[in-house]
Amino acid sequence: MKKDLLAISDLTREEIEGIFDRTNFLKKGFYAGDIYHPLKGKVLGMVFKKPSTRTRLSFESGMYQLGGNTIFLSSKDLQMDRGESIIDTARIFSIYLDGIVIRTYSQKEVEELAVNASIPVINGLTDLHHPCQILCDMFTIKEKLGRLKGVKVAYVGDGNNIANSWLDGASKMGMNLSISSPAGYKPDSEITKKAISLAERNEGRIEFAEDPFEGVKDADIIYTDVWTSMGQESEYEKRLKDFKKFQVNADIVRAAKTNVMIMHCLPAHRGEEISSDVIDGDRSIVFEEAENRLHVQKAILEMLMGQRL
Ligand code: CP
Ligand code: NVA
Repeated sequence: MKKDLLAISDLTREEIEGIFDRTNFLKKGFYAGDIYHPLKGKVLGMVFKKPSTRTRLSFESGMYQLGGNTIFLSSKDLQMDRGESIIDTARIFSIYLDGIVIRTYSQKEVEELAVNASIPVINGLTDLHHPCQILCDMFTIKEKLGRLKGVKVAYVGDGNNIANSWLDGASKMGMNLSISSPAGYKPDSEITKKAISLAERNEGRIEFAEDPFEGVKDADIIYTDVWTSMGQESEYEKRLKDFKKFQVNADIVRAAKTNVMIMHCLPAHRGEEISSDVIDGDRSIVFEEAENRLHVQKAILEMLMGQRL
């Protein structure tokens, strides 16, 4: 049976821990210069309808490092854009490829692709979720602090795909997640409802704050993301005003634990959601986080496309 990764909720806690274990193994091997080719002869199709730096590069490099190959397909390269159905496309992908990463707008499109493909489908970001990013973020926190349970992550900013996947991830792993966002910019209500009840079962906590200074109190991690996500460019000016009080800057950092660490999925809009002194400061682990995308992605590819199902 093939397995997809469309949202973090597709994974059990044990599977997530398994991804972290394999990431450690792969990261060590990468630095030791080990050759490890479990995906030799396999081909990953990469459908990108939105831009990407990290996700594209980490999947492409990761796949090569695991001995496989990739085919990059922007939407204009495919007949899908000229009206070929997702169902037919999924059947064709399943003939030529061994796995697909897709970055697009609608989560439904990714779900339809997955249902109709006989090969694993990985969500490389939709408007609703970004599971690969939050798996990498949780790995990075575990690498730094040695645990996830009880760690407080204060997400400050837009209730977007990153916030939604944080709700999924934190509730599954028993973390404490506080989300501070302006009224009208809260995360998805269905995902929030499920996360609150899952967090309770896993001895974690999900909280919401209107005031970011309140939200970051006692935080081990402060996390932020852009105020205007891909596809929302026409709302840019309005969002700049609405989010003005939600910038992660030195004042906000001072309101958290003294040893708080700063994370951002990138790309960052310096001077908007985060100040340059904070992203470049000594509490920032943003670029280590970005590096881990490579190692976590390889563990995901190995799990879904190798023999380790
Ligand atoms: N964080 C992230 O997904 O970056 P890209 O948009 O550059 O892939
Ligand atoms: N929320 C951002 C994340 C980018 C990685 C976006 O969707 O544009």
